[in-house]
Amino acid sequence: MNSPLSKNKKASWAPLKETRSFIKEVVGRFSTTGAILPSSKYLARAICATLRVERAPWNILEVGPGTGAITREIAKVLRLGDTLTAIEINESFAEHLRHEIQTKKEYAKTKDQIQVLVGKLEDLGGNAVYDCIISGLPMNNFEGEIVKHIFSVFRSLMKPGAPLSYYEYFAIRNLKYPFVPQTEKKRLREVSEIVDEEIKKYQVRARKVWMNVPPAVVRTLVLNPILSK
Ligand SMILES: C[S@@+](CC[C@H](N)C(=O)[O-])C[C@H]1O[C@@H](n2cnc3c(N)ncnc32)[C@H](O)[C@@H]1O
Repeated sequence: MNSPLSKNKKASWAPLKETRSFIKEVVGRFSTTGAILPSSKYLARAICATLRVERAPWNILEVGPGTGAITREIAKVLRLGDTLTAIEINESFAEHLRHEIQTKKEYAKTKDQIQVLVGKLEDLGGNAVYDCIISGLPMNNFEGEIVKHIFSVFRSLMKPGAPLSYYEYFAIRNLKYPFVPQTEKKRLREVSEIVDEEIKKYQVRARKVWMNVPPAVVRTLVLNPILSK
């Protein structure tokens, strides 16, 4: 029989089937997937803290839901009147997630509030549409120009004062730096410059999550601050 501890442990990480689907897609698509495993329940909870505030109904955008490790947690905290749009570039992930939403009990109460789009965030048009963005995009895998563009897309999609919550693996840019070739060093420097500037100006909260592989930091930024008169 399982001890209560092993039971908890089992429930804390992504289900095996989901992990297998995720790993299958990572092979050959590492630059867009950017992770070796789906996010842990602890990371998912930490990123969803943004939604657990006193608020009116929100239009929420999740970017890069993958197999749904964070989507599941968002579904738990969705409120009446909220909408969740999840945009995923990888068709297999999107199909998997749509199936989960239609069939899993975790989504029973909120499935009519959720839509999954297949496509690139960069192609999602709109101006001041979302009250909150939760992103799983692996920014540290992209070229500097793309990171810059993604921040500008976030900015135009978000309403004034809207929070953007995303995670990056803890100290990953600095840890990788000494071991990679010059071209990769240049790319990492460019990404750091862009991301660090956004963090310096717009970060409102940061929280480390050790219980994830690898450990991560969840950052919340308000890219379009409401300026007081
Ligand atoms: C690091 S994984 C995160 C998956 C999931 N959110 C999690 O935390 O386990 C990044 C996800 O972003 C997706 N992705 C990468 N680039 C994208 C883009 N430009 N637009 C939408 N999704 C993208 C990948 O296919 C992948 O599912």
